[in-house]
Amino acid sequence: MSTDTILVVGGTGNQGRAVIERLATLETDYEILALTRDASTEHAQATAALGVELVEGDLSRPDTLRPHVERADKVWATINFWAVGYDTHIELGDNLAAAIEAVGDLEHLVYSGAGDQREDTDVPHLRSHYLVSERLRETGVPYTAIKPVYFMENWEAIGVEDGVLAFPLDEETHHFQTTYYDTARASAVALDNTDDFAGTEYNIASDLLTLRETAEVISDVIGETVEPYHMPLDEAEDAFGEEFAVMCDHFINEGGHTSFPANIRRIERDFGFTPQTLEEYLRENGWEGGTDEPAHVPGWVKAMQ
Ligand SMILES: NC(=O)c1ccc[n+]([C@@H]2O[C@H](COP(=O)([O-])OP(=O)(O)OC[C@H]3O[C@@H](n4cnc5c(N)ncnc54)[C@H](OP(=O)(O)O)[C@@H]3O)[C@@H](O)[C@H]2O)c1
Repeated sequence: MSTDTILVVGGTGNQGRAVIERLATLETDYEILALTRDASTEHAQATAALGVELVEGDLSRPDTLRPHVERADKVWATINFWAVGYDTHIELGDNLAAAIEAVGDLEHLVYSGAGDQREDTDVPHLRSHYLVSERLRETGVPYTAIKPVYFMENWEAIGVEDGVLAFPLDEETHHFQTTYYDTARASAVALDNTDDFAGTEYNIASDLLTLRETAEVISDVIGETVEPYHMPLDEAEDAFGEEFAVMCDHFINEGGHTSFPANIRRIERDFGFTPQTLEEYLRENGWEGGTDEPAHVPGWVKAMQ
C-alpha cells in the first residue's frame, strides 16, 4: 500500500509544527510536505529538522500552490489572521480553496480556524476564520473544521509582572483555553480517521478557568502569589492591539458567565485523549519556579514584532 501524503499549510508555524510532530507519532506512516514561503529561514529549517520535506509556495500567489496540492492526498491548513488582517485572510483562504478545487481529488481537508468563529460577530478574525472555513468546506473535499479556543501559549507573551496577571477579562468570566499540542492531537486523529471526521466540526478546548482561577493555578506552579487584574479595554488596546481587545470584550459579553460554549468531554470522547489542564501545560513548559524565558511566541505576537 502506498504512503499517503499530507500537505501542511502553515507547517513552519506554531500550530503546523505541532501537527507535524503529532503525525509523526501515529502508527500510520505519512509523507509530510510543509509549505513555506522561504525554505531558508530559521523557522523553516527547524521544521525540516522534524524530518519533513519543505515545499516553497505562497498563499498570495495561487500558481505556487497547485503543484504541492497535486502531490497531496490530504491537506491540513491554518492561516495567521494577525499577520495579514481581515481582507487578506479571506483572500488567502480563497486562493487555497481554488487550488484545491483545481486539483479536485483530495481525500480530506482540515482547517484550523478559531473557537466560536461565526458570521454574525463583531470580532473580525472570528468572522474571517468562519468565512475561510466555509469557503474550504465548499470545495466539496471531505472537510473537518478544527476551531481552537484561546491558546494557553498566550500566557507566555502576557506573563506575570510584579505578581500581577493583567488581562482584559473580568475575574469571574469562565474562559476556555487550549494548547497547540491538543489542537495538533485532534488534527492528527482527524487526518488519520477521515471516514469518522469528514463533515464534523469541533471547538477545541482543554480547560475552563476564570481569570482568578488562572492566576491561582499560575501561583501554585511558580510558587509565588499572583493576583488577577481586569485590564480595562482602552488599556488593553494599547497593550495588545484593538483586535485582541475586541475579542476579550466579546468573551465577557457573549455567554454570561462563560466566554462561549465548548465541550471538553466531547473532545476526550471523540478524539480519544485527555486534554491538557492549564497546570499540566505550565509544568510541561518550564513555568515551575518562574517564567523568565517564554516557551512559545504566539502568532499575534509575531505579527506585532
Ligand atoms: N492565539 C490564540 O489564542 C489563538 C486561538 C485560536 C486560533 N488562533 C489562530 O491561530 C493562527 C496563528 O497560527 P500560528 O500561531 O500557527 O501562526 P504562526 O506561528 O505565525 O505561523 C504562520 C504560518 O503560516 C505560514 N504563512 C504565512 N504567510 C503565508 C503565505 N502567504 N503563504 C504560505 N504560508 C504562509 C508561515 O510560513 P512561512 O513563514 O515559513 O512562510 C507559518 O508556517 C491565527 O490565525 C489565529 O487566529 C489563535
